[in-house]
Amino acid sequence: MNQRPIGVFDSGLGGLTAVRRLRELMPSENIIYFGDTARVPYGNRARETLLKYARQDLRFLRSFDLKAVVVACGTVSTNCLEALQAESDIPIVGVVEPAVRRAAALSRNRRVGLAATRASVSSGAYERAFHRQDPALAVHSLPCPLFVPLVEEGRCRPGDVVIETVAAEYLAPLREAGVDTLVLGCTHYPLLTDVIGAVMGPGVSLVDVGAEAARACRDLLAAADGLAERASGSACFYTSDRVVDFRRLAALFLGEEGPVEVRQTDITQY
Ligand code: DGL
Repeated sequence: MNQRPIGVFDSGLGGLTAVRRLRELMPSENIIYFGDTARVPYGNRARETLLKYARQDLRFLRSFDLKAVVVACGTVSTNCLEALQAESDIPIVGVVEPAVRRAAALSRNRRVGLAATRASVSSGAYERAFHRQDPALAVHSLPCPLFVPLVEEGRCRPGDVVIETVAAEYLAPLREAGVDTLVLGCTHYPLLTDVIGAVMGPGVSLVDVGAEAARACRDLLAAADGLAERASGSACFYTSDRVVDFRRLAALFLGEEGPVEVRQTDITQY
């Protein structure tokens, strides 16, 4: 048993989709979340910038006595995970490996798609992980740079002509490639499940990377006898920008009432 909290971070609110799954899977855990809303989006940035931001995010979270960290950001997971893990004395769970395992298990026609940020796609991390999993898998990757800003604006619902138009144009090559499984390689994208599902059609399975990372975290803690035991865990939220903006959209991402506790922190101090 381990009662210490789990830390979770992302560039913005997207990582809350992973928090939602963590809370469903492990309701006894305490969670501390940091969303770097002052510097979102991360998805178009250089690796050196991402590493600098990710180290600061992690240093802030490590000001709490954590037992593990979930990097609930596809962009940081694809570009910085190994560096962060090498520098850390607690487990750091990323989204890539768990999502790839799930997608490889789901695909019947061995054609899988990846929709992600530009930095995630150009890192090649998903392709390498798929190749390790099964060299026969054909992987079709697409950067979707407008998805994150639109989701952060709350423009993610079916019927919103802007997001529907962008999704139809971005995803057309994946439809043409005939993928039967699509990794939503960014933790913002589960908010677009209905919009993306409508474009891809009912025969295509969508993989939520935050949900897979949450499962991987649960399995890792369970294997190490590191799960918490208490009636009900808590969640505490930190943002690097305005609290009011974070609160406004948090309920949408968490799929429940807004977080009770949101605080601002100056991330540049870490
Ligand atoms: N949720 C982040 C990810 O998973 C978004 C990246 C961004 O801020 O562009 O990649």
